Amino acid sequence: MTKKYVTTAIPYVNGKPHIGHAVDYCLADVCARYYRLLGDEVRFQAGTDEHGNKIFQKAEDLNIPVQEYVDKNSEKFKEFIKLLGISNTDFIRTTNQEHERRCQEIWRRLASHIYLANYEGWYCTGCERFVTDKEYEENDGVCPDHQKPYEKLEEENYYLRIADFKDEIKEAIVSEKMKILPEFRKNEILKLLDDSPDVSISRPKSQLTWGVTVPDDENQVMYVWIDALSNYITVLGYPEEEISAWWPAAAQFVGKDILRFHAIIWPAMLIGLDLPLPKVLVSHGMILADGQKMSKSIGNVVDPLEVLNKYGLDAFRYYFLRHIDTFMDSDFTWEKFESAYNNELANDLGNLVQRLAVLASKNGVKLDKHSQLEMSVEYRELMDNFEFSKAFDYVWVKVQNINRKIDEDKPWVLAKNGEVEKLRNCLNSLILELLNVNYMLSPFIPETAEKISKIFDGKIEPPEMPLFPKS
Ligand code: MSP
Repeated sequence: MTKKYVTTAIPYVNGKPHIGHAVDYCLADVCARYYRLLGDEVRFQAGTDEHGNKIFQKAEDLNIPVQEYVDKNSEKFKEFIKLLGISNTDFIRTTNQEHERRCQEIWRRLASHIYLANYEGWYCTGCERFVTDKEYEENDGVCPDHQKPYEKLEEENYYLRIADFKDEIKEAIVSEKMKILPEFRKNEILKLLDDSPDVSISRPKSQLTWGVTVPDDENQVMYVWIDALSNYITVLGYPEEEISAWWPAAAQFVGKDILRFHAIIWPAMLIGLDLPLPKVLVSHGMILADGQKMSKSIGNVVDPLEVLNKYGLDAFRYYFLRHIDTFMDSDFTWEKFESAYNNELANDLGNLVQRLAVLASKNGVKLDKHSQLEMSVEYRELMDNFEFSKAFDYVWVKVQNINRKIDEDKPWVLAKNGEVEKLRNCLNSLILELLNVNYMLSPFIPETAEKISKIFDGKIEPPEMPLFPKS
Protein backbone atom coordinates (compact mmCIF):
# COMPACT_ATOMS: atom_id res chain seq x y z
CA MET A 1 0.00 0.00 0.00
CA THR A 2 1.44 3.37 -1.00
CA LYS A 3 1.03 6.39 1.24
CA LYS A 4 -0.14 9.59 -0.43
CA TYR A 5 -0.56 13.09 0.96
CA VAL A 6 -3.03 15.54 -0.58
CA THR A 7 -3.43 19.17 0.50
CA THR A 8 -5.80 22.13 0.04
CA ALA A 9 -5.19 25.86 0.38
CA ILE A 10 -6.32 27.07 3.79
CA PRO A 11 -8.80 29.95 3.38
CA TYR A 12 -8.62 33.23 5.27
CA VAL A 13 -11.34 33.39 7.86
CA ASN A 14 -12.31 37.01 7.28
CA GLY A 15 -15.79 35.93 6.24
CA LYS A 16 -17.91 32.86 5.72
CA PRO A 17 -17.21 30.29 2.99
CA HIS A 18 -18.33 31.11 -0.56
CA ILE A 19 -18.64 28.81 -3.57
CA GLY A 20 -15.09 29.62 -4.69
CA HIS A 21 -13.72 27.96 -1.57
CA ALA A 22 -15.43 24.70 -2.53
CA VAL A 23 -13.15 24.21 -5.53
CA ASP A 24 -9.96 23.28 -3.66
CA TYR A 25 -11.89 21.00 -1.35
CA CYS A 26 -13.81 19.19 -4.07
CA LEU A 27 -10.80 18.68 -6.34
CA ALA A 28 -8.59 17.43 -3.53
CA ASP A 29 -11.38 15.17 -2.34
CA VAL A 30 -11.77 13.56 -5.77
CA CYS A 31 -8.03 13.01 -5.81
CA ALA A 32 -8.01 11.47 -2.32
CA ARG A 33 -10.95 9.19 -3.08
CA TYR A 34 -9.40 8.12 -6.36
CA TYR A 35 -6.12 7.23 -4.63
CA ARG A 36 -8.08 5.21 -2.08
CA LEU A 37 -9.80 3.30 -4.91
CA LEU A 38 -6.32 2.48 -6.18
CA GLY A 39 -5.56 1.03 -2.75
CA ASP A 40 -3.39 3.86 -1.41
CA GLU A 41 -3.46 5.07 2.16
CA VAL A 42 -4.25 8.77 2.03
CA ARG A 43 -3.60 11.62 4.40
CA PHE A 44 -5.65 14.66 3.42
CA GLN A 45 -5.22 18.06 5.07
CA ALA A 46 -7.61 21.01 5.20
CA GLY A 47 -7.70 23.96 7.55
CA THR A 48 -7.98 27.70 8.09
CA ASP A 49 -5.54 30.60 7.71
CA GLU A 50 -6.20 32.86 10.67
CA HIS A 51 -3.45 35.47 10.94
CA GLY A 52 -2.59 38.64 9.04
CA ASN A 53 -3.81 42.17 8.57
CA LYS A 54 -6.95 41.41 6.67
CA ILE A 55 -8.44 39.28 9.44
CA PHE A 56 -7.23 41.57 12.21
CA GLN A 57 -8.80 44.62 10.56
CA LYS A 58 -12.10 42.85 9.96
CA ALA A 59 -12.37 41.77 13.61
CA GLU A 60 -11.53 45.33 14.71
CA ASP A 61 -14.18 46.77 12.39
CA LEU A 62 -16.73 44.40 13.88
CA ASN A 63 -15.52 45.17 17.37
CA ILE A 64 -15.04 41.48 18.19
CA PRO A 65 -11.92 40.13 19.95
CA VAL A 66 -9.89 38.68 17.12
CA GLN A 67 -9.46 35.20 18.61
CA GLU A 68 -13.20 34.95 19.14
CA TYR A 69 -13.76 36.08 15.57
CA VAL A 70 -11.42 33.49 14.03
CA ASP A 71 -12.81 30.73 16.27
CA LYS A 72 -16.29 31.41 15.01
CA ASN A 73 -15.34 31.60 11.34
CA SER A 74 -13.01 28.63 11.40
CA GLU A 75 -15.94 26.57 12.68
CA LYS A 76 -18.00 27.67 9.67
CA PHE A 77 -15.34 26.31 7.32
CA LYS A 78 -15.20 23.07 9.25
CA GLU A 79 -18.97 22.68 8.91
CA PHE A 80 -18.81 23.59 5.24
CA ILE A 81 -16.24 20.87 4.59
CA LYS A 82 -18.53 18.35 6.25
CA LEU A 83 -21.51 19.48 4.20
CA LEU A 84 -19.46 18.98 1.02
CA GLY A 85 -18.66 15.39 1.99
CA ILE A 86 -14.93 16.07 2.07
CA SER A 87 -12.92 13.10 3.29
CA ASN A 88 -10.06 15.04 4.90
CA THR A 89 -8.14 13.28 7.64
CA ASP A 90 -6.68 16.42 9.25
CA PHE A 91 -7.86 19.95 9.96
CA ILE A 92 -5.31 22.57 10.94
CA ARG A 93 -5.81 26.06 12.30
CA THR A 94 -2.90 28.47 12.11
CA THR A 95 -3.73 29.95 15.51
CA ASN A 96 -3.17 26.54 17.05
CA GLN A 97 -0.29 26.82 19.53
CA GLU A 98 1.49 23.72 18.30
CA HIS A 99 1.44 25.13 14.78
CA GLU A 100 2.83 28.46 15.99
CA ARG A 101 5.63 26.80 17.91
CA ARG A 102 6.51 24.65 14.92
CA CYS A 103 6.57 27.71 12.66
CA GLN A 104 9.11 29.30 14.98
CA GLU A 105 11.26 26.21 14.73
CA ILE A 106 10.96 26.32 10.93
CA TRP A 107 12.10 29.95 11.03
CA ARG A 108 15.12 29.02 13.15
CA ARG A 109 16.08 26.33 10.67
CA LEU A 110 15.89 28.85 7.82
CA ALA A 111 17.97 31.42 9.71
CA SER A 112 21.02 31.21 7.45
CA HIS A 113 18.83 32.39 4.53
CA ILE A 114 17.18 35.22 6.48
CA TYR A 115 18.47 38.79 6.94
CA LEU A 116 17.15 42.05 8.39
CA ALA A 117 16.80 45.14 6.18
CA ASN A 118 14.70 48.21 5.62
CA TYR A 119 11.68 47.80 3.40
CA GLU A 120 10.27 50.70 1.51
CA GLY A 121 7.54 49.78 -0.90
CA TRP A 122 3.99 48.70 -1.47
CA TYR A 123 1.61 46.21 0.10
CA CYS A 124 -1.89 44.96 -0.68
CA THR A 125 -3.76 43.81 2.42
CA GLY A 126 -6.38 42.07 0.25
CA CYS A 127 -3.69 39.83 -1.28
CA GLU A 128 -1.52 39.96 1.88
CA ARG A 129 1.33 40.57 -0.53
CA PHE A 130 4.28 42.93 -1.06
CA VAL A 131 4.21 44.43 -4.53
CA THR A 132 7.19 45.39 -6.68
CA ASP A 133 7.57 48.94 -8.05
CA LYS A 134 7.05 47.54 -11.53
CA GLU A 135 3.68 46.02 -10.57
CA TYR A 136 2.73 49.20 -8.75
CA GLU A 137 3.29 51.18 -11.92
CA GLU A 138 1.62 48.66 -14.22
CA ASN A 139 -1.50 48.75 -12.05
CA ASP A 140 -1.48 52.53 -11.50
CA GLY A 141 -1.13 52.03 -7.76
CA VAL A 142 -4.40 50.11 -7.38
CA CYS A 143 -4.69 46.35 -6.79
CA PRO A 144 -6.68 44.98 -9.74
CA ASP A 145 -8.07 42.11 -7.66
CA HIS A 146 -9.23 44.14 -4.70
CA GLN A 147 -9.71 47.58 -6.30
CA LYS A 148 -7.88 49.18 -3.38
CA PRO A 149 -4.84 51.49 -3.53
CA TYR A 150 -1.61 49.80 -2.46
CA GLU A 151 -0.37 50.91 0.96
CA LYS A 152 3.06 52.46 1.30
CA LEU A 153 5.20 50.65 3.86
CA GLU A 154 8.44 51.90 5.33
CA GLU A 155 9.65 49.51 7.96
CA GLU A 156 12.30 47.11 9.09
CA ASN A 157 11.60 43.54 7.91
CA TYR A 158 13.26 40.20 7.77
CA TYR A 159 13.88 38.90 4.27
CA LEU A 160 14.14 35.42 2.85
CA ARG A 161 16.99 35.27 0.35
CA ILE A 162 15.14 33.83 -2.64
CA ALA A 163 18.36 34.17 -4.65
CA ASP A 164 19.75 31.22 -2.64
CA PHE A 165 17.10 28.92 -4.11
CA LYS A 166 16.26 30.21 -7.57
CA ASP A 167 18.38 27.79 -9.58
CA GLU A 168 17.15 24.75 -7.73
CA ILE A 169 13.51 25.79 -7.98
CA LYS A 170 13.89 26.50 -11.67
CA GLU A 171 15.50 23.14 -12.28
CA ALA A 172 12.72 21.36 -10.37
CA ILE A 173 10.02 23.11 -12.41
CA VAL A 174 11.69 22.58 -15.77
CA SER A 175 12.52 18.92 -15.09
CA GLU A 176 9.03 18.43 -13.60
CA LYS A 177 10.41 17.06 -10.36
CA MET A 178 7.86 19.55 -9.08
CA LYS A 179 5.21 19.49 -11.75
CA ILE A 180 3.03 22.55 -12.29
CA LEU A 181 -0.41 21.99 -13.74
CA PRO A 182 -1.83 23.14 -16.03
CA GLU A 183 1.30 23.09 -18.14
CA PHE A 184 0.85 26.65 -19.47
CA ARG A 185 1.23 28.13 -15.99
CA LYS A 186 4.77 26.79 -15.85
CA ASN A 187 6.19 29.55 -18.04
CA GLU A 188 4.35 32.26 -16.12
CA ILE A 189 5.95 30.99 -12.94
CA LEU A 190 9.43 30.67 -14.46
CA LYS A 191 9.21 34.31 -15.54
CA LEU A 192 8.04 35.43 -12.10
CA LEU A 193 10.82 33.43 -10.52
CA ASP A 194 13.44 35.11 -12.70
CA ASP A 195 12.19 38.53 -11.63
CA SER A 196 11.56 37.57 -8.01
CA PRO A 197 13.41 39.73 -5.47
CA ASP A 198 14.12 38.48 -1.96
CA VAL A 199 10.85 38.26 -0.06
CA SER A 200 9.97 40.25 3.02
CA ILE A 201 8.82 37.71 5.60
CA SER A 202 7.96 39.71 8.70
CA ARG A 203 6.04 42.77 9.87
CA PRO A 204 6.99 44.99 12.82
CA LYS A 205 4.68 44.51 15.79
CA SER A 206 4.10 48.25 15.78
CA GLN A 207 2.18 47.65 12.51
CA LEU A 208 0.65 44.25 13.11
CA THR A 209 0.45 42.15 16.24
CA TRP A 210 -1.79 39.36 14.92
CA GLY A 211 0.70 36.73 13.86
CA VAL A 212 3.39 34.33 15.03
CA THR A 213 6.21 36.10 16.87
CA VAL A 214 9.59 35.85 15.16
CA PRO A 215 11.88 33.75 17.36
CA ASP A 216 14.41 35.82 19.30
CA ASP A 217 12.85 39.09 18.16
CA GLU A 218 9.83 40.21 20.17
CA ASN A 219 9.35 43.20 17.87
CA GLN A 220 8.40 41.30 14.73
CA VAL A 221 5.70 38.88 13.64
CA MET A 222 6.00 36.50 10.71
CA TYR A 223 4.51 37.45 7.37
CA VAL A 224 1.21 35.57 7.15
CA TRP A 225 2.27 33.49 4.14
CA ILE A 226 5.30 32.01 5.95
CA ASP A 227 3.03 30.90 8.73
CA ALA A 228 0.32 29.71 6.33
CA LEU A 229 2.54 27.70 3.97
CA SER A 230 4.15 25.96 6.92
CA ASN A 231 0.77 24.38 7.73
CA TYR A 232 1.33 21.67 5.13
CA ILE A 233 4.11 20.17 7.21
CA THR A 234 3.31 21.34 10.75
CA VAL A 235 0.06 19.40 10.48
CA LEU A 236 2.18 16.28 9.94
CA GLY A 237 4.12 17.08 13.10
CA TYR A 238 7.23 18.68 11.54
CA PRO A 239 9.83 19.22 12.84
CA GLU A 240 9.60 16.87 15.82
CA GLU A 241 7.99 14.06 13.92
CA GLU A 242 9.37 12.10 11.01
CA ILE A 243 7.24 13.09 8.02
CA SER A 244 8.90 11.16 5.21
CA ALA A 245 6.05 8.64 5.05
CA TRP A 246 3.79 11.47 3.81
CA TRP A 247 6.03 14.20 2.55
CA PRO A 248 6.57 15.11 -0.32
CA ALA A 249 2.88 15.63 -1.03
CA ALA A 250 1.50 13.70 -4.00
CA ALA A 251 -0.59 16.74 -4.95
CA GLN A 252 -1.21 20.22 -3.59
CA PHE A 253 -4.36 21.98 -4.80
CA VAL A 254 -4.40 25.78 -5.00
CA GLY A 255 -6.19 28.51 -6.95
CA LYS A 256 -4.29 30.13 -9.81
CA ASP A 257 -4.24 33.40 -7.80
CA ILE A 258 -2.00 31.86 -5.16
CA LEU A 259 0.14 29.60 -7.31
CA ARG A 260 3.03 32.08 -7.13
CA PHE A 261 3.34 31.64 -3.36
CA HIS A 262 3.31 27.87 -3.74
CA ALA A 263 5.71 27.75 -6.66
CA ILE A 264 8.30 30.25 -5.36
CA ILE A 265 8.20 30.96 -1.60
CA TRP A 266 7.08 27.46 -0.58
CA PRO A 267 9.77 25.57 -2.54
CA ALA A 268 12.36 28.07 -1.24
CA MET A 269 11.33 27.25 2.32
CA LEU A 270 11.41 23.51 1.63
CA ILE A 271 14.85 23.61 0.04
CA GLY A 272 16.06 25.72 2.98
CA LEU A 273 14.72 23.03 5.32
CA ASP A 274 16.31 20.30 3.27
CA LEU A 275 12.94 18.77 2.48
CA PRO A 276 11.84 17.47 -0.93
CA LEU A 277 9.46 19.51 -3.11
CA PRO A 278 5.84 18.49 -3.67
CA LYS A 279 5.35 16.20 -6.65
CA VAL A 280 2.56 18.22 -8.25
CA LEU A 281 1.06 21.68 -7.79
CA VAL A 282 -2.41 21.67 -9.31
CA SER A 283 -3.69 25.19 -9.90
CA HIS A 284 -7.37 25.54 -10.62
CA GLY A 285 -9.29 28.39 -12.23
CA MET A 286 -11.69 30.84 -10.65
CA ILE A 287 -15.44 30.58 -10.43
CA LEU A 288 -17.18 33.56 -11.87
CA ALA A 289 -20.80 34.47 -11.24
CA ASP A 290 -22.58 35.47 -14.45
CA GLY A 291 -19.21 36.06 -16.09
CA GLN A 292 -17.99 38.41 -13.37
CA LYS A 293 -15.71 38.07 -10.40
CA MET A 294 -17.84 37.43 -7.34
CA SER A 295 -17.82 40.35 -4.95
CA LYS A 296 -19.91 41.70 -2.14
CA SER A 297 -20.01 45.14 -3.72
CA ILE A 298 -21.43 43.81 -7.01
CA GLY A 299 -23.80 41.70 -4.91
CA ASN A 300 -23.31 38.53 -6.97
CA VAL A 301 -21.80 36.29 -4.28
CA VAL A 302 -23.44 32.86 -4.41
CA ASP A 303 -24.01 31.29 -1.01
CA PRO A 304 -22.95 27.64 -1.16
CA LEU A 305 -25.39 26.76 1.62
CA GLU A 306 -28.28 27.89 -0.56
CA VAL A 307 -27.16 25.47 -3.29
CA LEU A 308 -26.53 22.64 -0.84
CA ASN A 309 -29.82 23.08 1.03
CA LYS A 310 -31.88 23.25 -2.12
CA TYR A 311 -30.24 20.52 -4.21
CA GLY A 312 -28.10 18.42 -1.88
CA LEU A 313 -24.50 17.47 -1.67
CA ASP A 314 -23.97 15.47 -4.85
CA ALA A 315 -25.79 17.96 -7.04
CA PHE A 316 -23.33 20.55 -5.77
CA ARG A 317 -20.34 18.29 -6.36
CA TYR A 318 -21.66 17.30 -9.77
CA TYR A 319 -21.80 20.88 -11.02
CA PHE A 320 -18.54 22.00 -9.44
CA LEU A 321 -16.58 19.00 -10.62
CA ARG A 322 -17.98 18.59 -14.11
CA HIS A 323 -19.14 22.00 -15.30
CA ILE A 324 -16.46 23.99 -13.52
CA ASP A 325 -13.38 23.17 -15.59
CA THR A 326 -10.54 21.85 -13.44
CA PHE A 327 -7.99 24.30 -14.76
CA MET A 328 -9.79 27.23 -16.39
CA ASP A 329 -12.13 29.94 -15.10
CA SER A 330 -15.78 28.88 -15.31
CA ASP A 331 -19.12 30.41 -14.73
CA PHE A 332 -21.75 29.64 -12.16
CA THR A 333 -25.30 30.69 -12.96
CA TRP A 334 -28.44 29.29 -11.40
CA GLU A 335 -29.79 28.68 -14.88
CA LYS A 336 -26.83 26.50 -15.87
CA PHE A 337 -26.89 24.73 -12.54
CA GLU A 338 -30.59 23.91 -12.72
CA SER A 339 -30.34 22.75 -16.30
CA ALA A 340 -27.45 20.41 -15.42
CA TYR A 341 -29.41 19.11 -12.45
CA ASN A 342 -32.63 18.38 -14.33
CA ASN A 343 -31.27 17.25 -17.69
CA GLU A 344 -28.22 15.36 -16.59
CA LEU A 345 -28.43 14.23 -12.99
CA ALA A 346 -32.18 13.65 -12.85
CA ASN A 347 -32.70 12.47 -16.45
CA ASP A 348 -29.49 10.70 -17.40
CA LEU A 349 -28.53 9.12 -14.09
CA GLY A 350 -31.58 9.24 -11.78
CA ASN A 351 -33.96 7.83 -14.42
CA LEU A 352 -31.46 5.20 -15.53
CA VAL A 353 -31.17 3.81 -12.01
CA GLN A 354 -34.94 3.90 -11.56
CA ARG A 355 -35.65 2.18 -14.89
CA LEU A 356 -33.18 -0.62 -14.34
CA ALA A 357 -34.19 -1.21 -10.74
CA VAL A 358 -37.91 -1.30 -11.61
CA LEU A 359 -37.37 -3.70 -14.54
CA ALA A 360 -35.18 -6.01 -12.47
CA SER A 361 -37.45 -6.08 -9.41
CA LYS A 362 -40.69 -6.51 -11.44
CA ASN A 363 -39.22 -9.46 -13.28
CA GLY A 364 -37.53 -10.98 -10.25
CA VAL A 365 -34.05 -10.60 -11.76
CA LYS A 366 -31.13 -10.84 -9.33
CA LEU A 367 -27.64 -9.82 -10.25
CA ASP A 368 -25.21 -12.62 -11.15
CA LYS A 369 -22.07 -12.82 -9.07
CA HIS A 370 -19.75 -10.43 -10.82
CA SER A 371 -16.06 -9.94 -11.06
CA GLN A 372 -14.08 -7.02 -9.65
CA LEU A 373 -15.23 -3.55 -10.73
CA GLU A 374 -12.77 -1.90 -13.03
CA MET A 375 -11.59 1.53 -14.07
CA SER A 376 -10.95 1.88 -17.78
CA VAL A 377 -7.53 2.86 -19.08
CA GLU A 378 -8.81 6.18 -20.45
CA TYR A 379 -10.32 7.06 -17.09
CA ARG A 380 -7.11 6.14 -15.25
CA GLU A 381 -5.07 8.30 -17.57
CA LEU A 382 -7.30 11.36 -17.14
CA MET A 383 -7.43 10.91 -13.36
CA ASP A 384 -3.68 10.36 -13.06
CA ASN A 385 -3.18 13.65 -14.92
CA PHE A 386 -5.62 15.49 -12.64
CA GLU A 387 -7.96 16.15 -15.60
CA PHE A 388 -10.92 15.65 -13.32
CA SER A 389 -13.62 17.54 -15.25
CA LYS A 390 -12.61 15.64 -18.40
CA ALA A 391 -12.68 12.32 -16.56
CA PHE A 392 -16.15 13.17 -15.30
CA ASP A 393 -17.27 14.00 -18.87
CA TYR A 394 -15.84 10.70 -20.01
CA VAL A 395 -17.82 8.74 -17.39
CA TRP A 396 -20.95 10.67 -18.18
CA VAL A 397 -20.81 9.58 -21.82
CA LYS A 398 -20.84 6.02 -20.45
CA VAL A 399 -23.98 6.83 -18.44
CA GLN A 400 -25.64 8.10 -21.61
CA ASN A 401 -24.51 5.01 -23.53
CA ILE A 402 -26.27 2.74 -21.07
CA ASN A 403 -29.46 4.74 -21.56
CA ARG A 404 -29.08 4.30 -25.31
CA LYS A 405 -28.46 0.60 -24.92
CA ILE A 406 -31.68 0.13 -22.91
CA ASP A 407 -33.63 1.82 -25.67
CA GLU A 408 -32.01 -0.46 -28.23
CA ASP A 409 -32.34 -3.71 -26.26
CA LYS A 410 -35.91 -2.97 -25.17
CA PRO A 411 -35.97 -5.30 -22.12
CA TRP A 412 -39.68 -4.49 -21.57
CA VAL A 413 -40.44 -6.22 -24.91
CA LEU A 414 -38.47 -9.27 -23.79
CA ALA A 415 -40.52 -9.28 -20.57
CA LYS A 416 -43.80 -8.98 -22.45
CA ASN A 417 -42.82 -11.85 -24.75
CA GLY A 418 -41.83 -14.04 -21.81
CA GLU A 419 -38.22 -14.38 -23.04
CA VAL A 420 -37.00 -14.95 -19.50
CA GLU A 421 -33.41 -16.02 -20.17
CA LYS A 422 -32.77 -13.23 -22.67
CA LEU A 423 -34.30 -10.68 -20.29
CA ARG A 424 -32.14 -11.89 -17.43
CA ASN A 425 -28.96 -11.64 -19.53
CA CYS A 426 -29.91 -8.26 -20.90
CA LEU A 427 -30.62 -6.74 -17.48
CA ASN A 428 -27.56 -8.39 -16.00
CA SER A 429 -25.24 -6.87 -18.52
CA LEU A 430 -26.87 -3.41 -18.29
CA ILE A 431 -26.72 -3.40 -14.49
CA LEU A 432 -23.14 -4.61 -14.44
CA GLU A 433 -22.19 -1.86 -16.83
CA LEU A 434 -23.97 0.65 -14.59
CA LEU A 435 -22.14 -0.62 -11.51
CA ASN A 436 -18.84 -0.29 -13.27
CA VAL A 437 -19.64 3.27 -14.31
CA ASN A 438 -20.83 3.90 -10.76
CA TYR A 439 -17.43 2.79 -9.49
CA MET A 440 -15.77 5.47 -11.63
CA LEU A 441 -18.35 8.02 -10.49
CA SER A 442 -17.69 7.31 -6.83
CA PRO A 443 -14.83 9.80 -6.28
CA PHE A 444 -17.06 12.55 -7.70
CA ILE A 445 -20.49 11.83 -6.20
CA PRO A 446 -19.76 9.40 -3.37
CA GLU A 447 -23.11 9.56 -1.59
CA THR A 448 -25.05 8.74 -4.76
CA ALA A 449 -22.58 6.04 -5.74
CA GLU A 450 -23.15 4.35 -2.41
CA LYS A 451 -26.92 4.52 -2.83
CA ILE A 452 -26.66 2.99 -6.30
CA SER A 453 -24.46 0.15 -5.05
CA LYS A 454 -26.99 -0.63 -2.32
CA ILE A 455 -29.97 -0.62 -4.70
CA PHE A 456 -28.43 -3.36 -6.84
CA ASP A 457 -26.91 -5.34 -4.02
CA GLY A 458 -28.81 -8.58 -3.29
CA LYS A 459 -32.56 -8.25 -3.77
CA ILE A 460 -33.02 -5.35 -6.14
CA GLU A 461 -35.42 -2.71 -4.85
CA PRO A 462 -36.15 0.52 -6.71
CA PRO A 463 -35.56 3.58 -4.51
CA GLU A 464 -38.70 4.94 -2.85
CA MET A 465 -37.73 8.47 -3.81
CA PRO A 466 -36.03 9.39 -7.11
CA LEU A 467 -32.29 9.95 -6.57
CA PHE A 468 -32.61 13.47 -7.97
CA PRO A 469 -36.19 14.76 -7.73
CA LYS A 470 -36.90 17.24 -10.54
CA SER A 471 -36.89 20.84 -9.41
N1 MSP B 1 -5.13 31.97 2.93
C1 MSP B 1 -4.68 31.89 1.59
C2 MSP B 1 -4.19 30.50 1.24
C3 MSP B 1 -3.06 30.00 2.09
S1 MSP B 1 -2.55 28.40 1.60
C4 MSP B 1 -1.18 28.14 2.48
C5 MSP B 1 -5.83 32.27 0.63
N2 MSP B 1 -7.06 32.20 1.13
S2 MSP B 1 -8.39 32.55 0.28
O1 MSP B 1 -9.47 32.41 1.20
O2 MSP B 1 -8.25 33.81 -0.38
O3 MSP B 1 -8.46 31.45 -0.84
C6 MSP B 1 -8.51 30.07 -0.49
C7 MSP B 1 -8.64 29.23 -1.75
O4 MSP B 1 -9.88 29.51 -2.37
C8 MSP B 1 -7.55 29.55 -2.79
O5 MSP B 1 -7.10 28.37 -3.41
C9 MSP B 1 -8.28 30.42 -3.78
O6 MSP B 1 -7.76 30.33 -5.08
C10 MSP B 1 -9.65 29.79 -3.73
N3 MSP B 1 -10.68 30.71 -4.22
C11 MSP B 1 -11.10 31.88 -3.67
N4 MSP B 1 -12.03 32.43 -4.50
C12 MSP B 1 -12.23 31.64 -5.59
C13 MSP B 1 -13.10 31.64 -6.68
N5 MSP B 1 -13.96 32.62 -6.93
N6 MSP B 1 -13.04 30.56 -7.51
C14 MSP B 1 -12.20 29.49 -7.29
N7 MSP B 1 -11.39 29.47 -6.27
C15 MSP B 1 -11.29 30.57 -5.44
O7 MSP B 1 -5.55 32.57 -0.50
